[in-house]
Order: sequence, then structure tokens, then C-alpha cells
Amino acid sequence: MERLTDQFGRSLHYLRISLTDRCNFRCVYCMPPEGISLLPRAEVLRIDEFERLARIFVSLGINKIRLTGGEPLLRHKIVALVAALSHIDGLNELGLTTNGSLLAPLAQPLKEAGLASVNVSLDSLDPERFSRITLRDEFPVVLEGIGQALKAGLKVKINVVVLDSLTKEEVIAFCRMTREKPVEVRFLEFMPLCGTGWKLEQTKPIALIREWIREEFDLHPLPRNGQVAETYTLNSGLGRIGFIASMTEPFCDSCTRLRLTSTGGFHPCLFSLMETDLRTPMRKGSPDEEIARLIRETAWLKPKGHGEFLEKNKYEELPKIRSLGG
Ligand code: 5AD
Ligand code: SF4
Repeated sequence: MERLTDQFGRSLHYLRISLTDRCNFRCVYCMPPEGISLLPRAEVLRIDEFERLARIFVSLGINKIRLTGGEPLLRHKIVALVAALSHIDGLNELGLTTNGSLLAPLAQPLKEAGLASVNVSLDSLDPERFSRITLRDEFPVVLEGIGQALKAGLKVKINVVVLDSLTKEEVIAFCRMTREKPVEVRFLEFMPLCGTGWKLEQTKPIALIREWIREEFDLHPLPRNGQVAETYTLNSGLGRIGFIASMTEPFCDSCTRLRLTSTGGFHPCLFSLMETDLRTPMRKGSPDEEIARLIRETAWLKPKGHGEFLEKNKYEELPKIRSLGG
């Protein structure tokens, strides 16, 4: 079958799938404290529906899938889904992004089911600041989850959203963590994705974080290989440091990413409001070929970049989009 490409010649091979809109955390940058109104269950795809769509996407050339949420580990059949997806021919990399709160007991079963890697959100190494950000007191539980994931042999990345309250001291503490644990700590600029609104001054540019680290350590660059993160090793240690400067140094020209929401909405860009409903045709009995055609047509329209979108101040509309962050 013809591979997925867009009108600007980018070949698209990475799909993020949101398995649920539910989350047991309330990260201030993602959701209002009272949470979001939850989608009726019937609107959210069943595990077999995710599996079918994933197969169609892989037949179109997607070779990397990341499962996200909300919190994907809240789906009871997550291990069965991972097992099913990991057997799809042509899918080379299956990862999951989690807040880590339910990870400890699931790490080993997920690894055995074929999961390669987990990205754990850990925005602070200070339990009190962690609680102020997530509105939950689960810091030790998340650390235990990270420990169990490493023990199970999963590749582990730690996602740190760079909020204005992130200090140099804490950035250095994260760097020290990579000296002791084989993890990649990735600093992500705060993006206007969802939640309670977004202002540029609520983040710090990655350039500043990079400079803070350079004042204390030597950063040795690793080859980029088309990855969104710019990664480095420190002078010594087991892990790596990564930077994702989505706002100040956008990488749209080489972006290969697509997104499927928990209700079967297909977005050609993480930021785009454009959505193609795949659930309705799927539930009406459309054959794979028809769904593949919808995917190809939508992917073709992937916007050139998110700059244009941000300039138009469209992010005012973003609170209407639910749970794209996790
Ligand atoms: N900006 C940047 N990162 C975000 N995340 C969630 N919302 C945002 C946002 N608005 C992070 C989560 C998770 C990863 C998928 O993205 O913390 O680690
Ligand atoms: Fe939940 Fe992730 Fe959003 Fe935090 S960022 S509230 S963990 S979905």
C-alpha cells in the first residue's frame, strides 16, 4: 500500500494514540483542578477498535506507536492491548507515556507483553513541588514505578515540563539522576496543548536550561537521527539529557508525528484542530480500505508548522480540546 506522506513531502511514520481522556492526576498545565468533563464511555474506542486502527496505520507505514492518555494505565486491558500491538508486523517500536502512578505493578507484565519503553512524567524531584504541580502526593509511588520499569528492562525516559518555577538547582538535580540511573531526562517546553490556558511567560526557553547545565557539566551531543529531542551525554554517568524545544526551536519541517484521540479522532498534527472521525465509519462497518483512504487524505493535509496556528492566537480555542497532553 502507498505510504503516508503529506503535501510538504514529509513521510509520516509515528503515531501517538490516546487511550483514554481519564487521568488520576491534575497537572496544572494540563487540566483544571476539578478535572475535565469525562466523555461518555461509548464514545471512547474499545481495545479491539484501537487494535484494528493500529493495524491499518501500520499497513500505511507507521512503524512507531506511543500510547498516551489521559493516563493510559487506567485502561484495564492495557497489557492485552500491548500484547496485541506488539505482534503487528511492521511495528518496530511500541512505547507508552505515563504519569507513573500505576506503573510499579504493571512494569514487568507490560515488558513481557512486548512494550519497549516508557516515558514517565516527573516534573520535579522535590516532593512538595511535585504535589503543587500534579495536585497529588504520589511522588514516592512514581519513583517506585520508575525503579520497577528499569528492573523489568524497559527503556525509561523522564519527561520534565519546563515551567517557570523550575530552578537551576532542580535542573542540576535531574542531571545528577542521569549519572546514577540509565534514564534519559528530557526537558520539554510548555506547549499550548490543553488545560487551563497557556502563556509564553509560563515556560522558560530550552536555551536557558541548556546554558544552566553547561555551567556545571560538559554536554556531549548524540546524533539526532530525525528524533524530536536533541540528546546529550554528560561527562560521566549512565543516562542522557534531552531537550524538546517545541516552542522556541520548532522542528515542524522534520516532524513525522500523527495523533489518534481516544474517540477515534485523527489529527495530522499535535496542534491542529483539524480532525477526521474514524470511529463513525469504523462502527458503521466500513472496510479497512475506506478507513485507510480517510487516513491518507487527512495525513496529506498536515500543516506546514504550528507557527501559523500560534500566530492566529487560535490557542484560545484549545481548552475545547481534551487531554492531548498525557
Ligand atoms: N506542554 C508540554 N508538555 C506537556 N505535557 C502535557 N501537557 C503538556 C504541555 N502543555 C507532557 C506530559 C507528558 C508528555 C506527553 O507531555 O507531562 O510527559
Ligand atoms: Fe494526567 Fe498527564 Fe495531564 Fe498530568 S499531564 S493531568 S498526568 S494527562
